[in-house]
Amino acid sequence: MGMHSSDLPDFPWDLLAPHKAHAESHPDGILDFSIGSPIDPTPDIIRGALQEASDSPGYPRTAGSATLRAAIREHYRRVRGVRPPERHAILPTLGSKEVVATLPSLLGLSAGDAVIHPAVAYPTYELGARLAGATPVPADQVDELPPGTAGRVRLIWLNSPSNPTGRVLGVEELRGIVTWARERGIVVASDECYAALAWEEPWASAGVPSVLDPRVNGGDPTGILALYSLSKRSNAAGYRMAWLCGDPQLIGPILEIRRHMGMMMPGPIQWAMEKALGDETHVSAQREVYRTRRGALRGAFEQAGYAIDDSQAGMYLWVRADDGRDDWTIVTELAAKGILVAPGSFYGEAQHVRVSLTASDAATEAAALRLATT
Ligand SMILES: Cc1ncc(COP(=O)(O)O)c(C=O)c1O
Repeated sequence: MGMHSSDLPDFPWDLLAPHKAHAESHPDGILDFSIGSPIDPTPDIIRGALQEASDSPGYPRTAGSATLRAAIREHYRRVRGVRPPERHAILPTLGSKEVVATLPSLLGLSAGDAVIHPAVAYPTYELGARLAGATPVPADQVDELPPGTAGRVRLIWLNSPSNPTGRVLGVEELRGIVTWARERGIVVASDECYAALAWEEPWASAGVPSVLDPRVNGGDPTGILALYSLSKRSNAAGYRMAWLCGDPQLIGPILEIRRHMGMMMPGPIQWAMEKALGDETHVSAQREVYRTRRGALRGAFEQAGYAIDDSQAGMYLWVRADDGRDDWTIVTELAAKGILVAPGSFYGEAQHVRVSLTASDAATEAAALRLATT
């Protein structure tokens, strides 16, 4: 790895601490919409499975049990329209954040290589590139790369639906990027962890397309990796349940390294994940919880004179002031109402704030009331 811990960026959340303290001083208390950590209960089907599998004296398989891998394939077939899933390799991971942070290193990238990530993005894409010693390049259009970058790109990160914007990449867009990348031998890694949360058409009916969809890649996983996580879909961020799926030529060496490192998903978690994937009822129920909160927050922010951009899917509203006040100004004025949100600057732009749907129903209703009073 090319990076020392002293090179790590400041943890940006520290910058929010004074605003948090300000919001906490509100006479009726803080309403926190700043963090994307699920708060609703982990479904019983997952908790029960964890208990069932708690007798676990032996080492689990790094590649995941055969039945877990079958459940993941079945998930792609049934929920994401990926056929034939048999051509793809699968590797369970300890949540998806660790993959975002280590993939450039595990793919063997180093100094001189470039990693493209979305211009407005979850910060760990940049960190992962830096950990490998590679150069992170924020860009949304592959034909508008900074000078000198083009010949050095080895990996492109996609994130659809996006954290923080909620934008979705359609089949055509995905196909264009995959085609461009494949012609140049560049790996495309698509972080799809919010795919179960689609609000607007066409995504609500047709589903959010996966990079593994045959309409995107012609049924050939070469050069493609998809990342998925049950943290959001199943209120299971504490379980660390995620996987990589895609090109066997890419996943094979990563599996070998992870076997040597002992980076294996615990056996009881594998079983709980298999059970979670067999059940869509809890996913639909959670989606309705978020839909209600989203509707209330959206209406309240719009009534209070803010605009909502993108946000077609995912777990956040991407909120802007209609007169162009910057993100920290919005954070400050909302903190005065006891409402805490995350500034767009944490994600690479300064015109929006990110409002998470992970505050309780009561907190959401209270926020709507506070936004309605001046
Ligand atoms: C875009 C994106 N990718 C990955 C993650 C990591 O999630 P987990 O490690 O829980 O799978 C998050 C979490 O917020 C995220 O927003």
